[in-house]
Amino acid sequence: CRIRHYHFNVVVKNATKLCSTKPIVTVNGKFPGPRLYAREGDNVLVRLTNHVQYNVTIHWHGVRQLRTGWSDGPAYITQCPIQPGQNFLYNFTLTGQRGTLLWHAHISWLRSTVHGAIVILPKKGVPYPFPKPYKEKVIVLGEWWKADTEAVVNQATQTGLPPNISDAHTINGHPGPVPNCSSDDAHTLHVETGKTYLLRVINAAVNDELFFKIANHNLTVVEVDACYTKPFETDTLFLGPGQTTTALLKADQGIGKYLIAISPFMDTIVAVDNLTGIGYLRYNHTLAFTPTTFVTIPAVNATPVTSVFSDSLRSLNSKQYPANVPLTIDHSLFFTIGVGINPCATCFNGSRAVAAINNVSFVMPTTAILQAHYYGINGVFTDDFPAKPAIPFNYTGTPPSGLQTMNGTKVYRLAYNSTVQLVIQGNTIIAPESHPTHLHGSNFFVVGRGVGNFDPEKDPLKFNLVDPVERNTVSVPTAGWTAIRFRADNPGVWFFHCHLEVHTTWGLKMAFLVENGKGPNESIEPPPSDLPKC
Ligand code: C2O
Repeated sequence: CRIRHYHFNVVVKNATKLCSTKPIVTVNGKFPGPRLYAREGDNVLVRLTNHVQYNVTIHWHGVRQLRTGWSDGPAYITQCPIQPGQNFLYNFTLTGQRGTLLWHAHISWLRSTVHGAIVILPKKGVPYPFPKPYKEKVIVLGEWWKADTEAVVNQATQTGLPPNISDAHTINGHPGPVPNCSSDDAHTLHVETGKTYLLRVINAAVNDELFFKIANHNLTVVEVDACYTKPFETDTLFLGPGQTTTALLKADQGIGKYLIAISPFMDTIVAVDNLTGIGYLRYNHTLAFTPTTFVTIPAVNATPVTSVFSDSLRSLNSKQYPANVPLTIDHSLFFTIGVGINPCATCFNGSRAVAAINNVSFVMPTTAILQAHYYGINGVFTDDFPAKPAIPFNYTGTPPSGLQTMNGTKVYRLAYNSTVQLVIQGNTIIAPESHPTHLHGSNFFVVGRGVGNFDPEKDPLKFNLVDPVERNTVSVPTAGWTAIRFRADNPGVWFFHCHLEVHTTWGLKMAFLVENGKGPNESIEPPPSDLPKC
């Protein structure tokens, strides 16, 4: 195993998209940011230096951070922000993982421009469990606002209304042909006939689950969220923000230019955001005129496409990569998640949108919870996060009237190495929506999903405890539920939240506190000496 050194300089850079130029916050002046390459088992050292006027932190989304929670990155959860002019060394080891992940800023909405790929190759000499590809290509999907994203989030928090939707979706930073703008700013993937490529597709969008499709080409999914899957063929990928899908692409056409399209999924009418991002798959040939083959994108509300994709995902569960699904449960949790309305004197119409888990809208503390826990600082958080809703209701029917959320900085305690079953139930208090939910510090197994209210008698009988997909972010279907299981084998404080940034901002988040055990590997390592102060 090696040590991999990276320098992340956070700097402002002018970027031109959609025929207009604006300054954006970047790492090393790049959008998307630099790719981090390593092998399983490597120690990664990233020296981050903050040259901008904003506070910054970086999260290595999906990296387990076994006992190194100080490097996980969510601001005020595991660390205080790195202030302007300061630097911090992120130091972690890639233990027991290989595949595609992403890193992104984890403070305010900076991740809209501060993100990039993480590629974890298998250990030297260990082959992929699928045919070796000719070449590998990283594809980062993003979202672009003409306005400054800080202004977009401020508008939302001040008015209590949803933020403005983005102006484009991008493929490796490029939106494709832009109406009323002469430039065709599109990403092109060059391929040779007869070769097989490994596409590492990452959804780094801020607020959109996305479909990904290439005209006339099927894809064979082999891994999601850095966990191998049983290979399956599909013409459409579906990824929530924070999710990754690695798939084999056989370049089996002769000549031509084929459209690559990404488009949002939204099966409710909350916002009409149906901008398609376009790129090209282009065969290597010398024809002067290249015919373009178009692609039919799924409808914005194509729920069945998302269900078929999710239901096709299975852990590889081979001898070498077994699915260690917890078969007994120490903590059985039920979280109802969604968006509601609270009174707000200063907001438009006297109310504001809030989002909550079990009716608790999470309030960010001003000191990092992990620090408060480690040093025993009182008054930063309470450990009374409810294991289930205080007042059960018909989650997917007409909501009880006058349901207000309470505010709190609450965590849920898990004993080290205990097992957890968590049923995440989407509710319809204002509008049902699909929520891509993400857990830090552990992967989980997705043992079941369904529409309507979860039935605690019948639904568990249908759980897949043999080869459920393992991942770190999962979509909870609109007015439906998803059940996950994991082992709390990583001491620390681990954020759990909707990865639609607008919902995180509104409070759809909480944290698990995995208590220190007594054995040598059961407690978090001491904090690094350069850990930023609040
Ligand atoms: Cu990728 Cu807490 O997020």
